[in-house]
Amino acid sequence: MKLKILSDHAKSAIEAEFVKYPDKRSALLPALWIAQKEVGYLSESAMMDVAVLLDLTPVQVYEVATFYTMYHLKPVGKYHIQVCKTLSCALVGAGKLIEHISQRLGVEIGGTTEEGLFSLQLVGCLASCGSGPMMQINEDYYEFLTPEKVDRILEDLRRDGKSPLASRPFRLPMVEEKV
Ligand code: FES
Repeated sequence: MKLKILSDHAKSAIEAEFVKYPDKRSALLPALWIAQKEVGYLSESAMMDVAVLLDLTPVQVYEVATFYTMYHLKPVGKYHIQVCKTLSCALVGAGKLIEHISQRLGVEIGGTTEEGLFSLQLVGCLASCGSGPMMQINEDYYEFLTPEKVDRILEDLRRDGKSPLASRPFRLPMVEEKV
């Protein structure tokens, strides 16, 4: 069948997920992840393609895509900053840190810097509760953050495209290897 936007490569990666589940509809989360990696966000066309591949209705795909913060329904910056706002991080200064990042980048929460480099989003617990305040940028975690540390990370990313202050990666390995 002809897809709207996903490549044959993404289609194959999604179909390779089917064998891991009793029903291909259950492969929705990795399929959305693969689509997002290819397109950059979950456009309407990307979600329609996923629906076709998994024999789901568009609304079934949409309701899952809108539930999880890991999926973007609009384009995000090259570096997608997700700061944990949940209790353990809030108790050790997440609120002040969020203000600092917002001021430093000149963007509101949910916004993207003018040059398209950084997007700022608040998210629920990222399972790094003992090392807050913390944030995830793309696929890396940054923990025990201070305003100074954040400044250095942003500078590193601007200059080198990576930062040695990344503490550990967030990975969906079985999916990433195929895209
Ligand atoms: S509360 Fe922030 S990572 Fe769990």
